Amino acid sequence: DAALIAAGEKVFKKCKACHQVGASAKNRTGPHLNDLIGRTMGAVEGFKYSKVFAAAQADGRIWDEASLAEFLAKPKSYLKGTKMSFAGLKNEGDVKALTAYLKSVGE
Ligand code: HEM
Repeated sequence: DAALIAAGEKVFKKCKACHQVGASAKNRTGPHLNDLIGRTMGAVEGFKYSKVFAAAQADGRIWDEASLAEFLAKPKSYLKGTKMSFAGLKNEGDVKALTAYLKSVGE
């Protein structure tokens, strides 16, 4: 719903230093996050991932709401060796809102 998406857009401010979304999104410090839900992990063309992400891609692991929530809560625990320097989102409500926002962009 629109309120949840708007709340998620605010949470995404924490990600914007490294990630872009939308029609003109490019890879920066992190890969673009368009069409994230349903995407294979570590699969954005032209982005150089860490080894743990390359392994996740080789294993065919997929971003769904559950894996994304687990990753965002504690990135470095979920994928040990990731180069994503982000402490994590403490608030489950923030994760829900952010997921709704990401589903609404870049489709
Ligand atoms: C990777 C989400 C914040 C840097 C990823 C991936 C996701 C993600 C889903 C995996 C993408 C894929 O498999 O293609 C987010 C969200 C953030 C956030 C939602 C905010 C809540 C940040 C910040 C930085 C960052 C602040 C930089 C300081 C990276 C990097 C990778 C990555 C470098 C690649 C990791 C690797 O190869 O190990 N992010 N991120 N992210 N992110 Fe973030």
